[in-house]
Amino acid sequence: MKRGERLRVFAGRSHPQLARDICAHMGIPIGEASIKDFPDGEIDLKVECDVRGADVFVVQPTSPPVHDSLFELLSFIDCLRRASAETITAVIPYFGYARKDRKDEGRVPINAKLVANLIAVAGAHRVVAIDLHAAQIQGFFDIPVDHLYARPVLMEKVRELGADRPIVVSPDVGGTKLARAYAKDLRADLAIVDKRRISGSETVVENVVGDVNNRDVVLVDDMISTGGSISDAARIVKERGAKRVFIVASHAVLCGDAVKKLDACPAETILFTDTIPLRGQRPAKLVQASVAPLLARAIDRIHRSESVSSLFDNSPRDIETR
Ligand code: R5P
Repeated sequence: MKRGERLRVFAGRSHPQLARDICAHMGIPIGEASIKDFPDGEIDLKVECDVRGADVFVVQPTSPPVHDSLFELLSFIDCLRRASAETITAVIPYFGYARKDRKDEGRVPINAKLVANLIAVAGAHRVVAIDLHAAQIQGFFDIPVDHLYARPVLMEKVRELGADRPIVVSPDVGGTKLARAYAKDLRADLAIVDKRRISGSETVVENVVGDVNNRDVVLVDDMISTGGSISDAARIVKERGAKRVFIVASHAVLCGDAVKKLDACPAETILFTDTIPLRGQRPAKLVQASVAPLLARAIDRIHRSESVSSLFDNSPRDIETR
């Protein structure tokens, strides 16, 4: 077999449906592997097909349960390296721990960097990620990172919402660049909610910078975790006179009471991608857009050694600098 002639896509247990959808788009069967737990909770993993000399992709968002997802990814990479795969690409549609990307106080770890180190040390040659919380996280890896954007996928659905005199609103200052990219696509104005974080689960909304009165608001964020930031933002824009409110986010982390908060907030549509599987309750006003075709195109190009950045020819460059 010639170098890199074969392509295999495997799924960890955190999002097998997404991996199946990617394979369906590519017209290839999913790689066979058996993943179970030993009685004590340790992972019992075996790849059931030959990968020697192949370009191998493992699809595994490191979403909750974060440590199970992460360790299973590391174990999968180790297994493929020892099975003599030619190249191993970790396809991580949602990269957990991304918010822990700096020391914002003394005596705290930088877990995003730790996770990047672990993935490279396990034996990955490349990472594919979607909407990293901060684009600079690419620099935590000493291996190539193909950073994809969910925006073109979500924008197709946003356009179908038929927003009247839309204004794009970021729920915090940190999300301004992402919101600006959506505003450019929609040729809409931009406003920002002045949010202060008190703890991991508590935020206070102080003000809206910009006039949302009598406008349809498209609230944009990279992730919704507890749902506190976005539901507070939805409420304050409504108080300031917004007509309809639509929530758009790349990653549906949805922990704790997030679904209840989303159901209770005044947004009429909640639009997510499927980078993370929805477990348990689903928001009542949910619309989903799949990243499977985007990931399928990226995997195909990486396997053929073709440009991946050309997938983003229509994307404003400034999103990179968030
Ligand atoms: C913050 O920087 C992020 O972009 C999200 O706004 C935040 O992580 C969402 O968290 P939660 O849903 O818990 O308010």
